[in-house]
Amino acid sequence: MEQDAMNPSEPPVINHQETAAEPVAKPKGAGDSRRIFLFKLSLALNGVVGAVLAVPILGYLLGPALKKKSSESFWINLGPLADFPEGETRLVNFRNPITTTWDGQTGDIPCWVRRISGNDFQVFAINCAHLGCPVRWFAQSKLFMCPCHGGAYYQDGSRASGPPERGLFEYDHRITAGNLFISAGKMPTLAARNCSKPPLTQIQSLPSTTIAANEIEPSEGLKLRNS
Ligand code: FES
Repeated sequence: MEQDAMNPSEPPVINHQETAAEPVAKPKGAGDSRRIFLFKLSLALNGVVGAVLAVPILGYLLGPALKKKSSESFWINLGPLADFPEGETRLVNFRNPITTTWDGQTGDIPCWVRRISGNDFQVFAINCAHLGCPVRWFAQSKLFMCPCHGGAYYQDGSRASGPPERGLFEYDHRITAGNLFISAGKMPTLAARNCSKPPLTQIQSLPSTTIAANEIEPSEGLKLRNS
């Protein structure tokens, strides 16, 4: 043994088992506390994300119920009575009371104001009762005309002709301190109020009858064409 150790040509024998570093045992408490911290952090993040998602959903679900009472009580001032000459119908714009500031011009709503005489007014929604196109007032013919499908209304808003099944919708109004106010928190449509009037056109189920062809009277047009 002494000869081997003294021989410089032999490489030294290294015992790896003796020289390998012993793995350092981590303290158990540090790993646990980090795991608990991460768990609590994930819980907190989940809570924040849940709250962010819940706000718009709750707003969507509860918004109409919360907004309804406040919006229905809005009375909008359309101006002093002197702005509305008797016997005339005028277009007036008002700001929708339940719009937000970023609604821009879409929050401006036009309506037709008709002053019959004295404090006797009618305020019509501008939308046609058929599919909602804006109707125009023609003072000479005293008719409201709809440009979309030819609907026509008399000056009192009742239906004159065309596809609309009823007259123009009217806003509730009142006169206070010499000014004309309308209840503008809701549109004056059937969806916003119960309408007791039945539509002008009603389809009734008639008992089925069979009519022979020779029992049908020819119309005037047919008579002229056959003669
Ligand atoms: Fe007015 Fe159709 S929308 S007649």
